[in-house]
Amino acid sequence: MCGIVGYTGGKKAVFILLEALERLEYRGYDSSGVALLENGQIFLEKKVGKIRELVRSLWGKTLNSTVGIGHTRWATHGGVCELNAHPHLDQTGRFALVHNGIIENYREIRDFLISKGIDYKSETDTEAIVHLISLNYEGDLLRAVLKSLPMLRGAYAFAVFTPLEPGRIVGVRYGSPLVVGLGEGENFLASDIPALLPFTRNIIPLDDGEVVDLTPEGVSIYDFEGNLKVKDSIRVHWDIISAEKGGFKHFMLKEIFEQPRVVADTIKGYLSRDYELPFSLKDFRRILITACGTSYHAGLVGKYWLERFVGVPVEVVYASELRYADTPVGREDLVIAISQSGETADTRFSALSAKEKGATLLSIVNVMGSALSRESDYTLYTHAGPEIGVAATKTFSCQLAVLYSLAVSQHPQRNELMDELLKVPHLMEEVLSRSEGVKEIALRYTSKKNMLYLGRHLSYPVALEGALKLKEISYIHAEGYPAGEMKHGPIALIDENMPVVVVAPRDRVYEKIISNIEEVLARKGVLISLGFEEDKKLTQLSKDFIGVPQCSEELSPFLTVLPLQLFAYYIADYLGLDVDQPRNLAKTVTVE
Ligand code: AGP
Repeated sequence: MCGIVGYTGGKKAVFILLEALERLEYRGYDSSGVALLENGQIFLEKKVGKIRELVRSLWGKTLNSTVGIGHTRWATHGGVCELNAHPHLDQTGRFALVHNGIIENYREIRDFLISKGIDYKSETDTEAIVHLISLNYEGDLLRAVLKSLPMLRGAYAFAVFTPLEPGRIVGVRYGSPLVVGLGEGENFLASDIPALLPFTRNIIPLDDGEVVDLTPEGVSIYDFEGNLKVKDSIRVHWDIISAEKGGFKHFMLKEIFEQPRVVADTIKGYLSRDYELPFSLKDFRRILITACGTSYHAGLVGKYWLERFVGVPVEVVYASELRYADTPVGREDLVIAISQSGETADTRFSALSAKEKGATLLSIVNVMGSALSRESDYTLYTHAGPEIGVAATKTFSCQLAVLYSLAVSQHPQRNELMDELLKVPHLMEEVLSRSEGVKEIALRYTSKKNMLYLGRHLSYPVALEGALKLKEISYIHAEGYPAGEMKHGPIALIDENMPVVVVAPRDRVYEKIISNIEEVLARKGVLISLGFEEDKKLTQLSKDFIGVPQCSEELSPFLTVLPLQLFAYYIADYLGLDVDQPRNLAKTVTVE
C-alpha cells in the first residue's frame, strides 16, 4: 500500500514532503518521488529504492517551491522501476498526480485514452487517472476531478495539482485512507496521521466518497457530486516521540519493549464502566470475529475468553474469506472487526457486508479516525500509539487487553478478573528483562530454513503469531499448528533438522502437550519450549527452554508471545534484514 502526501503553504515544500514520506515509508518502499511547482513548471524527481535514494538525488538542488505532492510506492501494477514510480504526469506535463489503491478498470480506461491519441507511458493503473483529469480540464481542477471520478472503479486515494492553478491541490478518498492536516497559512494531506505529526495535530480524516480542495488559505470538502460538506477536525494526542525510534535499533524492538506501558494504558481505558456497551453480549446468538494477519490471531485468543466468560459461540474468520462466503449473518450476530490500522480493505469490507445484513458491528482499532472506526456501530480503541514497524507487536498485546476486558465486562466476577489483568504489565516487564537470554537462544537458529510452532488452547493462536513473526521478518518458513493436529500430518516434517517451538504454559492442556512433545522428541525434533519459569519437566525435555513468570491460565498469551516476538527479531537482525520494512510487505493493506 502506498503512501501519499501533499503540501501547499509558505514553506519550502520539498523538505516537508520528504519528512512526511519518511514517516509513510512503512506503507511501501520500493520507489518514491515528488512533484513540485517550480517556476511555473512541474519539477519531477522519482527514484527506485528507499526514500534515502530520493533524498540523495535531490541533494544540492535549489527547490524553492511551496507546493508539491509526494509518494512512496508498494507496487501493485507494473514492476519496480522509475517509469512506474509516482508522481505521474499527463501528456502535456501540466498535471501531476500521486495515488494509493487500485483502479480495477484501468485497462479499459487506458485503451480509451490510447484511442484518444494519448501516449500511455507506464505499466501502472495510476497513469489513467491523470490523463482523464487532463482530458476533462476546462480551467477548474476540482471540476475536472469530479468529472473524471465516475469513470474510476476500485479503491483509490489520490492528489493532483497543476501549474495552471498555483497553490491548489485536490485530493480524493474512495476506499484508501486520506487525512487532511490543518495549519496556519498552510495545509497538508497524507495517507495517515503519523506523517503529519511534525507539522500539525489538527486533522480531518476524510470519508470514502469525499474530495478535498486545498489551498494555503483554506480547505473545502465536497462529496462526489460537488456538494460542499462540513467536517469537524480532530485533535491528535499522539506525541511525535512515539513515532521515533527512541534509541532502539529498530522500531520493532522499541515497540516490543513498549508493550508493558501501552498495555497498561489500554487496560486503564477499560477499568471504569464508562465504556460499557449498551447491550448484553449474551443477547447475541453468535459472535463473529473478522480480521487479518496478527489481528486474526488476537481474535482467536479472544474466542477462548469470550466463550469462557460470556458463553456465546464465537467464530473467527479470515476477513478475506468472510467477504465472499455465503455465511448466514444477521441481526442476532455481533460482528467484531479487529484491525490496528482500521484501514485493512479485507477487514473493512467483510465487516461492512455483515453490517449490511443486519449484524451489530463492533470494531477494535488502534488508529483514531480510521475508516473502520467511523463505519462501525461501536469502536473500542487500543492505546498502543503509532506502530511503525510493519510486523505488529504492541498492537497485538493491546488487542488482547481489549478483548479480555470485553469478555469479562459483564461477568459477575468482573472486578476480580480485571484485577488479574492489572498484574500483566509488570509480568511483561519481567519477561522483557530477560531478552538477552532469548537472544542467545535465537542466534543458535539463524541458519534454519524451516520451523514448526505448536500450541494448544490459548497457546495455539500464540504459536500461529510466533510463526507469522518469524516468516514476516526473517523470511524463514515457519508453520503454526495446533499441537494435537501435528500427528495428523506435520509430524512427517520432523527430524533432527527441524526446530519445533512449543508454547506450553501449565494450563488445562499441559499434560496433552507434554505427550505431543514426546512425539516430537521421538522423531529427534529439536525442541525449543516456552513455559512457566519453574517448569523442570520442560527444562529437562528441551534443547532450549524459555521461562515466563507464572500467571493465571487465561492470561498466559500476554507473556508467552513476547519471547516469540524477540526470537524472530534477533534472528532477522542477525541476518542483517530490514526488520522494520520487510520485503514485499506493507503496514496497512488497503487493497483486496
Ligand atoms: C502483522 O505483523 C502484519 N503486519 C499483518 O499481518 C497485519 O496484522 C494485517 O495486515 C492486519 O493489519 P490490521 O491489524 O491493520 O488490519
